[in-house]
Amino acid sequence: MSTKIQRRRSKIHGNGVFAKEAIRKGEEIVEYKGQLISHAEADALHYGDVMSGHTFLFTLNDDYIIDANVGGSVAKWINHSCAPNCVAFVHGTDDNDPAKDRVIIEALRDIGPGEELSYDYDIQIPGKLTKELKTIWACHCGAKNCTGSMAKSRKEEKKKEKREKKKLKEKRSKKEKKEKKGKKDKKGRKKK
Ligand SMILES: C[S@@+](CC[C@H](N)C(=O)[O-])C[C@H]1O[C@@H](n2cnc3c(N)ncnc32)[C@H](O)[C@@H]1O
Ligand SMILES: [Zn+2]
Repeated sequence: MSTKIQRRRSKIHGNGVFAKEAIRKGEEIVEYKGQLISHAEADALHYGDVMSGHTFLFTLNDDYIIDANVGGSVAKWINHSCAPNCVAFVHGTDDNDPAKDRVIIEALRDIGPGEELSYDYDIQIPGKLTKELKTIWACHCGAKNCTGSMAKSRKEEKKKEKREKKKLKEKRSKKEKKEKKGKKDKKGRKKK
């Protein structure tokens, strides 16, 4: 992992991570590493402040945050995009130990050499997403569908979850219809 990427200046923000060579859809690219800290410890950090607009913290699960300021990998330089080409997956272990969960950045689609890597940070603001917070977390990803802010309100998040559930339901029902049709066709052929 991570041999196909490099850190350099980005048009989106500061440093970014770019593909040195082609990366295939579904490929595991790099692990988001850092020191594991509790949510309370993260809240106490001066750089954990929601008003800072900059973070190297990644919410791993209900127990832990990964603080990439300490022992972070190159993954900490990957920027956010509203049209990302990567996704950050949390991988659990069989013993369900939250301290053993790991975050792996995976390609959502084929990525060409020179392309900047990005994923959806899914930053959730506790409480109301005010205009000020939206500005603090302003997004410069440049995507056509850019929402203008990296931060999402709980309301937006719920809407997103609803949309995703609906999509999944539609996908399942399409699959079921297809399977039913397949069975019918088979039956039809048998009769002939
Ligand atoms: C994990 S760092 C990514 C590396 C960052 N570019 C840097 O040089 O420090 C996350 C921070 O980068 C900035 N950032 C990442 N994606 C951005 C985007 N789409 N628009 C504006 N700022 C972004 C924000 O300040 C965010 O908190
Ligand atoms: Zn954006």
